[in-house]
Amino acid sequence: MSSSQLLVSRPGAPSDGVLLLSLNRPDRRNAITAEMYGAMADALAEAAADPTARVVVITGEGPHFTSGNDLLDFQEAPPSLDDDSPVIRFLHAIATFPKPLMAAVEGAAVGVGTTLLLHCDLVVVSESAKLRMPFVSLALVPEAGASLLLPRLVGHQKAAELLLLSETLTGAEAHRLGLAARCVAEGEALQAALALALRVADQPLGSLILTKDLLRRPLRAELEAVMRAEGALFFERLGTPEAAEAFTAFFERRKPNFRGLEG
Ligand code: COA
Repeated sequence: MSSSQLLVSRPGAPSDGVLLLSLNRPDRRNAITAEMYGAMADALAEAAADPTARVVVITGEGPHFTSGNDLLDFQEAPPSLDDDSPVIRFLHAIATFPKPLMAAVEGAAVGVGTTLLLHCDLVVVSESAKLRMPFVSLALVPEAGASLLLPRLVGHQKAAELLLLSETLTGAEAHRLGLAARCVAEGEALQAALALALRVADQPLGSLILTKDLLRRPLRAELEAVMRAEGALFFERLGTPEAAEAFTAFFERRKPNFRGLEG
């Protein structure tokens, strides 16, 4: 599935081996629709099978990486848990992509915009980027394996702070915590990521694939089980009155009031 909401390009010479996927919905801060999840899953599957694609970089058009899942979709067309649903295909694709996966992050990286970074091998953030996983404040639960990968990276206390309180991390803090390999000045993330990607692409592909596999292998089975458990709970939470209140409050630009909605 190709989509005008996902730009797929080779930013350098085609022989460089660097493939760029750019979320392209800047008027909605690159909020991700089912169509975009499907297009990303397809692009990653094609890149995995294409010997001329050696490394993939994910970014966003405009000043923001992405505001996460489209909240209107959560309200009006909630995703399904089927293995062939676009979001599940996308999550599986980033969790199993065999070649180096990178991201260049400017501005907001919300929800899946941050959790997808946990599956990237090299993340470049701008120092002023704002990373946030507001699943709890949206009455949801973490997804994309974040409940396993985040505490492993930052420890339980910091993961709990980020998830239970939906706290925002700047790019500089994310770099210090190990969520990003490089932190650069605002506006320079993509350029820095592409320069790094070119260095990666110059390495022997066979060794890149085997090394990434060795790095990811210890958690693979556990990750799959956690992602399934998260998915089931996330789907269940989408149908709650608390989630309905959170989505309505976002579009009405007010603070949600969850009191009296539990149960
Ligand atoms: N889904 C659907 N629409 C979204 C969206 C999302 N995830 N994020 C932003 N939008 C829409 C807004 O409703 C607004 O629409 P409008 O112009 O019709 O009012 C437009 O995109 C611009 O958003 P706005 O919030 O005004 O931009 P901003 O620059 O002030 O703030 C963000 C940008 C990213 C900080 C803010 O939009 C935000 O926090 N979004 C996150 C939503 C969220 O909780 N995502 C997590 C999903 S798990």
